[in-house]
Amino acid sequence: MILTTGATGTIGREVVRLLGPVRTLVRSPSGGPDEVIGDFDRPDTLDAALRGVDTLLLIGPAAASQITVLDRAVAHGVRHVVRVTNHKAVADSPVARRRVHARIDAHLKASGMEYTLLAPNFFMQNLLALAPEIAATGGFSSSAGDGRIGMIDARDVAATAATIAKAPAEHAGRTYLLTGPELVTFADMAREWAAVTGRPVEYRRISAAEHQAVMESKGVPEAGSNAQVFELLAAGDGAWLSDDFAAVTRGSPRGLGTFLADHLFS
Ligand SMILES: NC(=O)c1ccc[n+]([C@@H]2O[C@H](COP(=O)([O-])OP(=O)(O)OC[C@H]3O[C@@H](n4cnc5c(N)ncnc54)[C@H](OP(=O)(O)O)[C@@H]3O)[C@@H](O)[C@H]2O)c1
Repeated sequence: MILTTGATGTIGREVVRLLGPVRTLVRSPSGGPDEVIGDFDRPDTLDAALRGVDTLLLIGPAAASQITVLDRAVAHGVRHVVRVTNHKAVADSPVARRRVHARIDAHLKASGMEYTLLAPNFFMQNLLALAPEIAATGGFSSSAGDGRIGMIDARDVAATAATIAKAPAEHAGRTYLLTGPELVTFADMAREWAAVTGRPVEYRRISAAEHQAVMESKGVPEAGSNAQVFELLAAGDGAWLSDDFAAVTRGSPRGLGTFLADHLFS
């Protein structure tokens, strides 16, 4: 049996759509056919979800509570964990949430369970947060500079996870680096957005400090870490591509044009 966590999130919703009826761990009822109410932060709620599970798709926030989930999974005899981490999850990352991801990855590798790590680049879905500003002002501000980014559509992270969950053994011990098909800058994104909507989109370049202040004024969670990530992206942190999506799924990852057309008109 497969258990999917994070099932109400960007990746998890698509995983559930692709896998069909599957057990999910959710914090509040969402109408799924086999959902167990639970919370990573309340270990006593995890047992009912993990009972009888062979394969755990561990998706959720970069929080140390995922370590508790892994420990409960070992106790329940889970054989294989497929986990979404970050492409730059290293112990000495300047970004706090990437350091947490590195700790969880290390814990999983030492757990004795089989594992597969999915390490995606920047999600195209992050761009949708700019939609209100673009609609209101005809443009957007960002400190992403002219950094080129191998952005991935989170639906393709989900497709990779679902493929592996159906036949995990052949992916044991592997870390898959996930990107879309092309390197794009935020200036490219502005052009593509304008092409899809038929209205000009101005890209206003701001500093990381200004960007952090803007995000804080909008109440964006983790504004400081996000500003760090944008500064890194401007310096080329996301400027890499991988063929791992095609190797696992035998398909082609979606490009930015497809992503924007699907989301700006749906
Ligand atoms: N965004 C990017 O560019 C990017 C790039 C690389 C890696 N990642 C990684 O991708 C993962 C996130 O994927 P996503 O975009 O699908 O996330 P998301 O849309 O933010 O969804 C998070 C999911 O986790 C659930 N969740 C939150 N706290 C929980 C808790 N205490 N116990 C149980 N479930 C909890 C949420 O449930 P509720 O509906 O109840 O809140 C939701 O289903 C993160 O680990 C992130 O670091 C993201």
